[in-house]
Parts: sequence; structure tokens; C-alpha cells
Amino acid sequence: MSEILVHTEQGVQTLTINRLDKKNSLTAAMYSTLAQALVQASNDAAVRVVVIQGHESIFSAGNDIGDFLQAPPSTPDAPVFRFLGSLSSFAKPLVAAVCGPAVGIGTTMLLHCDLVYAGDNAAFSLPFVNLGLCPEAASSLLVPQLMGYHRAAEALLLGEPFMAEAALEIGLVNRIVAPTEASALAQAQARKLAAKPLSSLVETKRLMKQGQAAQITAQMGLEAQSFGRMLREPAAREAFGAFMEKRKPDFSKL
Ligand code: COA
Repeated sequence: MSEILVHTEQGVQTLTINRLDKKNSLTAAMYSTLAQALVQASNDAAVRVVVIQGHESIFSAGNDIGDFLQAPPSTPDAPVFRFLGSLSSFAKPLVAAVCGPAVGIGTTMLLHCDLVYAGDNAAFSLPFVNLGLCPEAASSLLVPQLMGYHRAAEALLLGEPFMAEAALEIGLVNRIVAPTEASALAQAQARKLAAKPLSSLVETKRLMKQGQAAQITAQMGLEAQSFGRMLREPAAREAFGAFMEKRKPDFSKL
């Protein structure tokens, strides 16, 4: 079965991350599929709203670490950067349902969604430093804006996870429900949006975001340069090797 399920019904296109045996971690092929689906959804008049979801037990464990080791993204048109570009510039409404761990890009992609509904088991984390990396998806700009610098430093420098209640408090999520209800709530809200005039939705979203759009694009470009370089450096190689070998990383000499 496909690792990204695409289903369109009544104006709502749902993208489901479906790789449970690897905790919904995302490979280059999955980013390609997601990026392609978003481009198609942009151009398809039958799609008015897109929903992104994982499973009740896990949203996404972030980038596939084996992929990072074997085929690290090196150019701006790498699938992960294409996905983030199409997500951040997506003109129609984006709704997310998030349950369980949302690691790395599993959290940063939510910064580009318009409505986020979380299961009470949702756990958000940005462990880029723990992996010898730096933030992506303009999270180095948007996370401090969202939660204030010092809480952002706990999330981004220490890599400390934060739970659904904290995400609600800072405004990263709109509502917390039982994990079994998150997907249905996201669908119901998406259907409400799909019944509204698309031109007004698109224009309102554009106006809300236009003040920062250029800055977000520029920040994503800077982050991608550093991220691409750091993926090949010793700290990241040690972190990925340790994950694959199921041991603690040793950064003492780095
Ligand atoms: N990349 C590749 N494989 C991953 C993965 C990832 N990001 N996350 C989990 N997996 C794999 C594990 O290697 C394991 O595979 P195996 O069964 O072949 O050994 C399987 O998924 C189950 O993972 P496991 O860690 O046993 O599940 P868990 O329920 O104990 O923990 C997480 C779930 C998400 C907390 C944990 O898997 C995790 O921390 N993953 C890494 C997250 C990460 O650092 N992502 C990168 C962000 S940039």
C-alpha cells in the first residue's frame, strides 16, 4: 500500500502519512508524492481544502534517518525542500490532524497549516540540535514568534518536547480532542471551509500571510543551506549512526 494516501471527496483532499512500521517517518519518495499532491491540489478546481494527517498513534517521526544517511538532500530542489516550498506557498486552506509524536518536520510542517486539531496524545518535538542539525521550514523564525524566545530555546536548543496543552496555549493547535476524534474534527472543519467561497478563502489567507511571506521564503533558503551542509558533518553522522545502531550518540569530541 502507498505510504502517502491521497483521497479527494467533496472538495477536500486528504493526504495521509501511512508508514506505521517506521512510525510515519518520511522518505524522499514520500516528500515527492506530497509535493506533487500539493501542486496538483493547487491546480485542481475540484480541491478547495487540503487535510494532512497521520495515524491516531503517531503523526510522524520526522525525516527517515536512513534516508538522511544515504541520500541527504543537497540542492534546493531536493524533495524535502520542494515539499516545504509547496506547503508554505499553498494558497488554499490547509488543515492538519495530529496525534501522537510529531517529530522534526512533523511539527514544523504544522507552522504552515491554517488549522491544526490535536489528539490529547500529541507530543511535539524539534530535536534538530540533538541530531547535529539546525531548524528547517522557517521554524527558526516562526517558533520564537509563536512561543517567545526563551520557550523556543527550550524547544530548539534543548530539543525538549512539548505536549498538546502547551501547543494549544501558544496557538500552534486550535483544539484538543480524543485521538479517535481528531481526524473526524479536521474533516468536519475542512468541509465547512470547502463550502465557503474559495476566492475569499484564498485572498484572506494571502492577506494574513503576505506581510511575512518573503521573510519566510528567505529564512527557509538560509536554513536549507545550513541544513544541507550540516547533514554531512560529523555531529549529524554520529547522531544518525547512533540512531541506526540503537545507542546514545557521543558528541564529546565534536
Ligand atoms: N527514521 C527511520 N526510522 C525510524 C524513524 C526515523 N525518523 N523513527 C522511527 N523509526 C523506526 C525505528 O528505527 C524502528 O524500526 P525497526 O522496527 O526496524 O527497529 C521503528 O521505526 C519503530 O521505532 P521505535 O523507536 O521502536 O518506536 P517508539 O514507539 O519506541 O518511538 C519515536 C517512536 C517517534 C519517539 C522514535 O521512533 C523516535 O524518536 N524516532 C526518531 C525521531 C527523529 O529523531 N526524527 C528525525 C527528526 S529530523
